[in-house]
Amino acid sequence: MAKGERGDVLNALVKQRKRLDDLSMREMFALDPNRFQRFSATGADILLDYSKNRIDEEVMEALIALARAAGVEERRSQMCEGEHINITEDRAVMHMALRYQGDRPVEVDGKDVMGDVRAVLKAVEAYTNDVRSGEIRGHGGERFTDVVNIGIGGSDLGPAMVTLALEPYTRADLRAHYVSNVDGAHIHDVLKRLDPKKTLFIVASKTFTTDETMTNANSARAWIADTLGEEAVPNHFAAVSTNIAACAKFGIREDRIFGFWDWVGGRYSVWSAIGLPIAMAVGYDNFAKFLAGADAMDRHFLETPLERNLPVIMALIGVWYRNAWGFSTHAVLPYDQRMSRFAAYLQQQDMESNGKSVTLAGKKVGWSTGPIVWGEPGTNGQHAFYQLIHQGTDVIPCDFLIAARPHEDLPPHHDKLVANVLAQSEALMLGKTKDEVVAELKAQGLEKDQIKALAPHKVFPGNRPSNTLFYKQLTPEVLGSLVALYEHKVFVQGVIWNVNSYDQWGVELGKQLAKALLPKVKGEQSGEGHDASTQGLLGYYLANKA
Ligand code: F6P
Repeated sequence: MAKGERGDVLNALVKQRKRLDDLSMREMFALDPNRFQRFSATGADILLDYSKNRIDEEVMEALIALARAAGVEERRSQMCEGEHINITEDRAVMHMALRYQGDRPVEVDGKDVMGDVRAVLKAVEAYTNDVRSGEIRGHGGERFTDVVNIGIGGSDLGPAMVTLALEPYTRADLRAHYVSNVDGAHIHDVLKRLDPKKTLFIVASKTFTTDETMTNANSARAWIADTLGEEAVPNHFAAVSTNIAACAKFGIREDRIFGFWDWVGGRYSVWSAIGLPIAMAVGYDNFAKFLAGADAMDRHFLETPLERNLPVIMALIGVWYRNAWGFSTHAVLPYDQRMSRFAAYLQQQDMESNGKSVTLAGKKVGWSTGPIVWGEPGTNGQHAFYQLIHQGTDVIPCDFLIAARPHEDLPPHHDKLVANVLAQSEALMLGKTKDEVVAELKAQGLEKDQIKALAPHKVFPGNRPSNTLFYKQLTPEVLGSLVALYEHKVFVQGVIWNVNSYDQWGVELGKQLAKALLPKVKGEQSGEGHDASTQGLLGYYLANKA
């Protein structure tokens, strides 16, 4: 689809929007008793209810036509066939191979990669089993009780999110911790409760050059060397990286280095050996189930017609709100305390992927691209920011996530949780009209004047959109399917917006400038030449640092 044409099609969605401007979801539900059946779908054991959106069949047909015209199916095939769809880095995008459960070859640059993928997974499995069984121990012969993953971005967010989410599968005697921030407080606060004799570090970095990770890794190395002696280092470190030479140089034993490949983007790497701390925490078998769940979603994405394809539907509804309605943020609200890092994980997955403003051809896009993704678990969010979602001036499309079965036998907690999540999407959709408010206040016995003053504050505009994702239980398989669902959603949106979802040049400038500023912050060079603000801040720091 040519640039002008794409812009025209996206603009044409505005006409569709105008058609629905005066029709509320409340009315649409009243007119169509089958709206839930019409606008819900299942895939990989996940139910998506998208009926509480400002859509009708004509809108969905237009959106599906847009996906076809934008070449979603062709691009999906190109990705599967190992074409270098990450054009600015000249790389294939093959994270699906990492979780592929079938027996067909998967080729990248003419080579079947499945042998290498499975060999690394086998090595991860063997190492994990040996650490968990106590076969592999620390330098002094003590069993490991704590595994500290040192990484940032994709080398942290995925494993950290999954480990929290799969807490019911963890063991009390082997805990996983995550250190990412270059702020020394992070590693300090994690290590202060740990015993070096029983602590294993995993240095996770695709490039093995990321400053935060290498700074933390060096501090961890010094902690081990200072307390247990330099010779203890090889027994307390493992690494996950595509840069095997740099890992070896750091002093990590060859058999404790787990590789992956440049066709795996950092934010798509949780399925690779980057998942090692997950396997340590929940056992390799559960990690394997997490991969299998993602593969189930891959099959759904690759084999289901666009009209019933969960990631495609979610992507298109996102495009609809972003481009036809101008909604700029998207909230992800899991009703699951253990999913507390899910939104943070999705922020990288979505915002680093589609936070772009040039097309594949390097021209400025003529439409909005990736939204701001944010969220927190319910019900906590209800008592914090939901006020704005219900009555603020911005409309914020939401995804609600909820399991039918909790892991705990603690009635009445889960019934209450479910009642809350259903209530929120219902309240957002229905709202409360002025007439309803007035009737309510009258019933409470308020005077006319009081009702007049209070009513406007109590009106809910309603007609606020949401998806609900329902699944039986948050198992490793379901979590894998959920993460893959969002990955494919981001892919589809990237194709429609015609951006490269697989590079991240936007993080480079800050890195470069930080490097240049470091000698000035240390007081080794003058700050001259920087703008007045930077010089002023530098001056304040140098005057107050001691
Ligand atoms: O933030 C930029 C980024 O390159 C991410 O894409 C990546 O996940 C993160 O840094 C960490 O990179 P690495 O795994 O190479 O240390």
